[in-house]
Amino acid sequence: MIADRPGYDALAEKYAETFPEPFQTAIERRAVDAFADLVQASGLEPGVVDVGCGTGGVAAHLARRGLSVHGVDPSTGMLAVARREHPELTVTEGDARLTGVDLSKVGGVIARHSLIHVPPDEVRAVLVDWSARLPTGAVVLVSAQAADEPGVHEFDHAVTRAWRWHPDALGAAVVAAGFDELWRTVSRADADHRFPDVHLVARCR
Ligand SMILES: C[S@@+](CC[C@H](N)C(=O)[O-])C[C@H]1O[C@@H](n2cnc3c(N)ncnc32)[C@H](O)[C@@H]1O
Repeated sequence: MIADRPGYDALAEKYAETFPEPFQTAIERRAVDAFADLVQASGLEPGVVDVGCGTGGVAAHLARRGLSVHGVDPSTGMLAVARREHPELTVTEGDARLTGVDLSKVGGVIARHSLIHVPPDEVRAVLVDWSARLPTGAVVLVSAQAADEPGVHEFDHAVTRAWRWHPDALGAAVVAAGFDELWRTVSRADADHRFPDVHLVARCR
């Protein structure tokens, strides 16, 4: 039952042990690096917000790439690990709505496997809000467990409630919110991944 799931606070240390590296696959790393390249080529300030930054590994990777990263996460446990492991990072408590975060000069927003925990209608509203607050040309990367079936499907995530998106459904939500899709990658399920995985990158109109 969903109520029995522990939540990220309880699992933060185990999460850090299980995923000592920010990326599990080459395609994930390359998708994030391609996102960083686009932000750096955008002509906007090289500031990025990492939505659901978790234990901070990806944010630290982006910082090493020369981006100025602000990590946001609702889990105080995950943030405590991020602060301990990556004291150089700026991380604050918050959720995907990014309340109080100034997006007007931000070059990019990255949300890796965090919007999966936001109900689909709220994801659509959040994307519309980001689009209204970001400068034209800002780059967004959203990644998620994907579905081969059309639409959006709740699934039995080990930690908390979560939804899988068909890549076309995610693309449609992003475009409807005011972004132009630039590219997406879809990797198939394998021994380590129960579901396909999508990384989708778009630019704010
Ligand atoms: C699977 S972890 C991914 C962490 C990190 N983005 C990465 O790529 O390693 C999901 C993260 O999303 C965060 N999260 C859960 N609900 C959220 C929400 N409503 N808004 C933003 N982040 C959320 C969790 O606290 C957790 O740190």
